[in-house]
Amino acid sequence: MKHFKVTFRPDGRQISIHAGATLAEAAGQAGIILNTTCGGKGTCGKCAVNLEPTKEQVLACQYHINSDLTVTIPISSRFFEQKILADGIEAKTKIQPDIYKKYLKVDSTDKIFGLAIDIGTTTVVAKLIDMTNGQCLATQADLNPQTKYGDDVVTRIAYAQTEAKSAELHTVIIDCLNKLTAKLCNQASIKPKNIYEMCVVGNTTMNHIFLKLPIAQLGQAPYKAFSLDAKDLTTDELALQINPDANIHTVENIAGFVGSDITAVALAVDINSAQDLTLVVDIGTNGEIVLGTADKLYAASCAAGPAFEGARITCGSRAAEGAIEAVVVNDGDIDLDVIGDCQPRSICGSGLIDAVAVLLNLGVVDPNGRFANPSTLGGKLSPAILSRIIQQNGQPAFVLASGKESGGQEVVLTQKDIREVQLAKAAIRAGIKLLQKKFGIEDDDIKHILLAGAFGNYIRRESALRIGLLPDVPAERIVFVGNAAASGAQIILLSSQFRTQARKLARRIKYVEIAHEEKFESVFTDSMSFPR
Ligand code: FES
Repeated sequence: MKHFKVTFRPDGRQISIHAGATLAEAAGQAGIILNTTCGGKGTCGKCAVNLEPTKEQVLACQYHINSDLTVTIPISSRFFEQKILADGIEAKTKIQPDIYKKYLKVDSTDKIFGLAIDIGTTTVVAKLIDMTNGQCLATQADLNPQTKYGDDVVTRIAYAQTEAKSAELHTVIIDCLNKLTAKLCNQASIKPKNIYEMCVVGNTTMNHIFLKLPIAQLGQAPYKAFSLDAKDLTTDELALQINPDANIHTVENIAGFVGSDITAVALAVDINSAQDLTLVVDIGTNGEIVLGTADKLYAASCAAGPAFEGARITCGSRAAEGAIEAVVVNDGDIDLDVIGDCQPRSICGSGLIDAVAVLLNLGVVDPNGRFANPSTLGGKLSPAILSRIIQQNGQPAFVLASGKESGGQEVVLTQKDIREVQLAKAAIRAGIKLLQKKFGIEDDDIKHILLAGAFGNYIRRESALRIGLLPDVPAERIVFVGNAAASGAQIILLSSQFRTQARKLARRIKYVEIAHEEKFESVFTDSMSFPR
């Protein structure tokens, strides 16, 4: 077959690829991850690149290569390395590893190490643990390479229609884990052969792809998992480059859309001992929530969609360099915090929540999510803020950074973006309200809100409360617990007692399919408005 040379700018990376391959495939081969929000269907427009020298803009996922090419990938089409949250709450556990007893006989001269892994839809976190004292020696994180097949689980399930495509998703995650393992070993100056145990958590789709289990049924109602059980496997079954006799343990899933990562989070925050009503929220494309006490626990998954990850937002992006991550009012105008030492070029989830909270406080947006008519705001707002309200493509918008302030394209928040935020926050808030109904409790009865996951850690509590994303409780009841899934994986890695606890906990948490709840529609509609 004929091959062509593709050069990517500005990196200068070059690859040779067969005729007919798409530019997105070529970029992937060159190690460049593009934004592929729609999974390559050609509908999201996030993978746009420029052909040189004409600068013609094409969608990388739709453009088939039939000549040598030079292509410039604009920043907006790149899936940047995100701010990755690798740290979680400190995992405290009594060390009772089965593995220690088992392998000490085999190789008593060497130390024994383990790996705690959290496979997120977007991010993979790996921790290297000394199994003799429970100490975490090194942590590494990377983007989940499956992202190039779509950035949410639904798109990936749709991609994995054939055995070959499922195998592809499995292979890229195994490669990613092997790379992370090599980096960890390098960092701690140990050998992979001294890793005898691995504990892996993730959402149910990630768990199934890792285990090579069928995933098609996860994409159709009633969204059943093929298996909820914990598994113990060998390196023969999974091509992981650690000790050939190592044991690979995966943790129990709770349901089709609430995976072993939430089992690990629940264990790490010790929900088993919660006397007061506690709400655990992991905000992502799928928001996962657990509510209850040691006696009774409910869990649900809310399809928030990718708005908080920047998708479907006019100037949205992930938490990458150049993204506005915080917005405040200062001195009669707005002030921005931008990731990295650069000018603003997009807005990420935490900035989005802040921006909407600011617009509500200023009265620029009303509780129904509508932009106010600027003529009604004169005298109430400073001229600087007033001048930021514009019309763009026939809809009102707020300029967060003008072309001058951004050194290029202006960063705006439009009426449509506000609607997307309303839909995302309503999904999460409705899920929480429906679980509250199970207990017959009001917001104030919730004594602790624990925000887990990468995104939770960067949002401002006041802004999350202002837009009504979380129950109306005093801000001090909200605590960030970081990457509690990885901390949970570490605990389960180290202790056979916690493996038993994880199993019992996963079976005890009652899953609620919120979309099937009688009041779902009305609760969801109510949750669309912002608090007054
Ligand atoms: S348009 Fe190309 S990935 Fe969505």
